[in-house]
Amino acid sequence: MRLAILGGSFNPVHLGHLYLADAVISAFGYDRVILIPAFRSPFKLDAAAPSPQDRLAMLAASVPGDSRLLVDDCEIRREGVSYTVDTLADIYRRYLPEAKPALILGDDLARDFPRWKNSGGILSLADIIIARRTIPEAGDYPYPCRQLQNEVMNISSAQVRDSIRQGTHWRYLVPAGARAIIEERGLYGFSAGASALSPALVVRMEEEVRRTLSLPRFLHSRQVAVMTSDLCRIFGLDSSAGYLAGIVHDIGKQLEEAELIRLAGTDRLPISPMENKKPSLLHGRAGAALLEERYGIGDQAILDAVRYHTTGSGLMGPLAKALYVADKIEASREGVEDRLRDFREYAGTGERGLDRLFGKIFMKTVAWLQTKKFELSEGTLRLLEQVERGASR
Ligand SMILES: [Fe+2]
Ligand SMILES: [Fe+2]
Repeated sequence: MRLAILGGSFNPVHLGHLYLADAVISAFGYDRVILIPAFRSPFKLDAAAPSPQDRLAMLAASVPGDSRLLVDDCEIRREGVSYTVDTLADIYRRYLPEAKPALILGDDLARDFPRWKNSGGILSLADIIIARRTIPEAGDYPYPCRQLQNEVMNISSAQVRDSIRQGTHWRYLVPAGARAIIEERGLYGFSAGASALSPALVVRMEEEVRRTLSLPRFLHSRQVAVMTSDLCRIFGLDSSAGYLAGIVHDIGKQLEEAELIRLAGTDRLPISPMENKKPSLLHGRAGAALLEERYGIGDQAILDAVRYHTTGSGLMGPLAKALYVADKIEASREGVEDRLRDFREYAGTGERGLDRLFGKIFMKTVAWLQTKKFELSEGTLRLLEQVERGASR
């Protein structure tokens, strides 16, 4: 087993780090790169940095399924200033390398390497590989080393930190797992806004929906999520809740009929003759039950929105109405009149505006069902009465 070591603050880990590890493996035939976050780097002291545990967690979440990349917390467990020579001794003890391991240095640090604590000792324990971080051509270094012919990837942790603080583009500079931790824990001043929902939950549920539904249905769900969150913003609701409700609204679609009926029954409402005849009508009710039972989602507005999106109901709240609308007219649905997707006239109209929009889309849907000679469900009929009463007031 040929080992290479990539240390650093990983504050936070970014795609440039993983790209270098990958490049060293393929360029020099190493089997494994051990990523080692420093407890305290001898070079940089950033008092405002997230805790070592946060940096470690981000790194650990960044390499799923890649057995060539290991994350080792020896420097964090050792505490104090993290010196590479101590780490190498530790690596020899625990990993029993068959050949001399490599130590990967960025060219930004390579110039100063001779001044590192016991750099002579490091050279006897490890082969140095210099990777390009800032300089696109080979350099000249006064000690034995090999140079990796990699592209300079113009990403730095400092740039990522600044972008998070300024609320600008950073999300695709870091691995998805690290991004989720930054958002979940509010690192580097990240703020999710007013929503009480965890961004990691949204990411997790989207992944679940992508895995379990067909690709066309997943893409439909994403369109619904984006439009529901837009509608929530227009009508003063929580747009993250809108996104989550949209992404999960059809999660009941993939269920077998028996499971569909069992889950739908857990809301203790009767299953109507029409639902019995056509169990796919239950995918909203069953989806809501599934979200509660299997995924622990307890937000009633989200559960209701999913529950009522198929047939509609007199019990729908604002989020349920927004989801219903988005499901019927999202951008990839065919046969929707263009003007129905234009929400400009609703800006600033609040809940009354949402009721108006919902009423319009609901009546269009009913009219369509009638032209197709579909029977209207009990929920739809009750809602129809309510909407017509509202319109005549
Ligand atoms: Fe649906
Ligand atoms: Fe849908």
